[in-house]
Amino acid sequence: MSATPPPRTFHVKSFGCQMNVYDGERMAELLTAEGMRAADDGAAADLVVLNTCHIREKATEKVYSDIGRIVKDGREQGAVPLIAVAGCVAQAEGEEIMTRAPSVRVVVGPQAYHRLPAMVAEAAAGGRATETDMPAEAKFAALPKRRKVGASAFLTVQEGCDKFCTYCVVPYTRGAELSRPFADLVSEARALVEGGAREITLLGQNVNAWAGNDEKGRHVGLAGLAEELGKIDQLARIRYTTSHPADMDDALIEAHGNNPKLMPFLHLPVQSGSDRVLKAMNRSHTAERYLRLLERVRASRPDIALSGDFIVGFPGETEAEFAETLQIIAEARYAQAFSFKFSARPGTPAATMDGQIAPEVLDERLQRLQAALQRDSLAFNHASVGKRCTVLVERKGRHAGQWLGKSPWLQSVHFTGDVAIGDLVEVDLVEAGPNSMGGRLVARAAA
Ligand code: 5AD
Ligand code: SF4
Repeated sequence: MSATPPPRTFHVKSFGCQMNVYDGERMAELLTAEGMRAADDGAAADLVVLNTCHIREKATEKVYSDIGRIVKDGREQGAVPLIAVAGCVAQAEGEEIMTRAPSVRVVVGPQAYHRLPAMVAEAAAGGRATETDMPAEAKFAALPKRRKVGASAFLTVQEGCDKFCTYCVVPYTRGAELSRPFADLVSEARALVEGGAREITLLGQNVNAWAGNDEKGRHVGLAGLAEELGKIDQLARIRYTTSHPADMDDALIEAHGNNPKLMPFLHLPVQSGSDRVLKAMNRSHTAERYLRLLERVRASRPDIALSGDFIVGFPGETEAEFAETLQIIAEARYAQAFSFKFSARPGTPAATMDGQIAPEVLDERLQRLQAALQRDSLAFNHASVGKRCTVLVERKGRHAGQWLGKSPWLQSVHFTGDVAIGDLVEVDLVEAGPNSMGGRLVARAAA
């Protein structure tokens, strides 16, 4: 490869989960600290970073089609940008990417992106650089301090997963569970709040498995961390995602009742309502145990909004087993949920299990499941009409004078009025849709 001038502008495009969004922000901060500038228009950037997702086949395919499009557009415009592939596809298929896509010059895994600037320099000098080692060392320590952020910010507190659900690539792409140290998180949270955040969402593949030692050396879990973060004055709201039922400890359940900054929302994936399927998935809970857990959470915080993830068509799933998933949905009454067709991921045990389900059955089950989930989210939203709540203003809406924010239950709320991003305002919820609420501004809330 011939040398090119060092890139001056960049564009980071993140796919997949919120942890990738966080990583994408950190990569942008790193590149900015090197003197590069975020391009206003992605197509005009000298460097494009594709921060990829490997969780399902479709997400992976998207990377290759994106690379093709960037190269084609670049050729038409007379300059192909330097392409870097980051994230979980880079981790899982690094070598394959380098062979299949010769225009990719940098491949960097999720635990190594603090090296991105050096790798970009190497590529600009005419080389190609790959880094997919998964050292447990401190990537975070090598990142620059947080700067200006939005009203709602992400903070990765935990990475990796030791659960090895049989369908999932995460333990292979993100590695073993690792909790970031308490003090680092408190100081990063403070920096986020100084940068404008009023809400922080704590992130981790298994966020409720986070554990660490507080400033007095006591071993604490996520509830203890949330308590400490609650002491930051200007921080009004704390959320966390994604949780595993097995790590939902008593302290965290109680925190939903006694930490006023912890928002009444819990994303707690169950994946299936069939005990046989759950066992084959290597989930450690039964449907009954999961429902009992929800009861305890609801006892602690009666108005809590629940959310989940579902996979339809896991290998061997019968119609009766699928019906059990519809049943657990009816009992759990989710406020919102995500649902997916099973996707065989290379290297996972489920990919080669007997009883792979035909695509048309996957489609049909997903449709039925989503109809049930939509019925429940609409019901949840309808039941919210008439409530007065605090909304955190996050951005301008599509129409003139319209604002968008989030209710405590993570509903998107649109309303008009004289407010600014970052305000916490009192709003009456007056209208319910499947994915959002209409509100009427009452007053600015006391911060
Ligand atoms: N196929 C379909 N969905 C999957 N998920 C994880 N792996 C797969 C797979 N192989 C879903 C799970 C998980 C969410 C992030 O993605 O529901 O909770
Ligand atoms: Fe994947 Fe299961 Fe770990 Fe979640 S708990 S990241 S689904 S292996």
